[in-house]
Amino acid sequence: MTKISGPLDIVVMGASGDLARRKIFPALFSLFCQGYLPDQLRFFGFARSKLTDDEFRGRITEHLTCRYAPGESCADLMSDFLSRCRYMAGNYGSSEDMLDLYQLMQAEKRCEANILFYFAIPPSVFLDVSRALGDAGMIRCTQEEPWTRAVIEKPFGQDRESSDNLTCELGKVFTEDAIYRIDHYLGKEVIQNLMVLRFANLVFEPIWNRHYIERVWIDWREDLGLEGRAGYFDSYGVIRDVMQNHLLQILALIAMDKPQQASAQHVRDEKVKVLRRISPVTLDHAVLGQYGAATWRDKDRVGYRQEPDVSPSSCTPTFCAARLEIDNDRWRGVPFIVRAGKAMNAKENEVRIQFRSMESNLFSSGRRTLPPNELVVRIQPNEGIYLGLNNKEPGHDLTLEKRDLDLRYASAYPGMIPDAYECLLLDVMEGDKSLFIRSDELEAAWDIFTPLLHKIDEDKLEPDLYPFGSYGPVIDKILLD
Ligand code: BG6
Repeated sequence: MTKISGPLDIVVMGASGDLARRKIFPALFSLFCQGYLPDQLRFFGFARSKLTDDEFRGRITEHLTCRYAPGESCADLMSDFLSRCRYMAGNYGSSEDMLDLYQLMQAEKRCEANILFYFAIPPSVFLDVSRALGDAGMIRCTQEEPWTRAVIEKPFGQDRESSDNLTCELGKVFTEDAIYRIDHYLGKEVIQNLMVLRFANLVFEPIWNRHYIERVWIDWREDLGLEGRAGYFDSYGVIRDVMQNHLLQILALIAMDKPQQASAQHVRDEKVKVLRRISPVTLDHAVLGQYGAATWRDKDRVGYRQEPDVSPSSCTPTFCAARLEIDNDRWRGVPFIVRAGKAMNAKENEVRIQFRSMESNLFSSGRRTLPPNELVVRIQPNEGIYLGLNNKEPGHDLTLEKRDLDLRYASAYPGMIPDAYECLLLDVMEGDKSLFIRSDELEAAWDIFTPLLHKIDEDKLEPDLYPFGSYGPVIDKILLD
């Protein structure tokens, strides 16, 4: 374990919001309990809500857990952690308010600290906050200590043009080196393992191409509706919320060529290369859906258009399945089916690599062909890796059945699986950008979905209705070759 060096101030913009309370402060507390954070450490929350320091601490405490510090030590660690937390209410676009924050940070005399700004704020105020911080003179343009770094949450823009604009405007305040565009899926253990699975094992790379792979599925389902997020979700929809970022990042890690080195630069170079070989999705290659009212798990669920703050004529997709094709020698002709849906029948995220069927086989003569092999990478829940093989059932007859070689994380690694945010926050402090999105990756990812998004918005395309708690609309049209 390496402890982060130097004094550190962590400033969370949007500190009273859900993301800060549920994810960021708990992850910081976990790192604190594990001894990763420096001794000279302070946290500052900034948001519009008027709260005292104690009220703020009370709100954070609700989501802190003792999983890394069981027993009595947890109470001591928690009170130490909370005593380092201060809060200030203000307006996001006000440089005067940022100056007040700066004064609060300067109040205790000590040597200059590194400053990590976490933007846990709605995308509509990213620029206001960064300009106000810039005007207040709080940003240092150096990579040397003491540094300032900014972690920006997705979505980065609404389409290619607005994303370029955001990059350009943020660039007036922060250098690209200081910007950490976070996609928390890249911090998930199984996703971090994708490169190891592919490039630290001899067995997969020779068959990781169109000659052996028939189709790849990247599936993401959630069994929740809006949960009070209409204000954000209705103007973004599931493509911008999940597909353009989380799912394309998974796809890039599955499909990219082997980087020369495992460095941030080489890995991201390869991701960009493969993303640029994907043609923009057309409507013919997409199915759009929106959930409707249903009774599910013994409860009446409202449909999307009846959710509070959603217009009764909203066409925002809550489901999308798209067929992506990669125009390079490795993948030409292999469909990547990327599917995401809210309010479905389960919370589940997995990648399925379906291998081709064997053309002739000792054991399939006179019978149907054998089931093809399949590699499943289960991202969540129940993290695991499964390889479906044909196997002889024990007995005097020759009966074949499909069975899984399975690597379940819960039994293989009974210890704790770190939360994605813990890992990513630590990387920011260490200055490691491997798991963050570079601006050219972002551009390539927007290029894939921007034409479809414009068509949806301009033509107000009516999505297919699917019942809350179901498997979503039929997607056969994008599966046909
Ligand atoms: C966020 C999306 O990025 O990821 C949410 O904005 C989604 O809509 C969430 O619910 C899912 O994250 P996780 O880690 O629970 O899979």
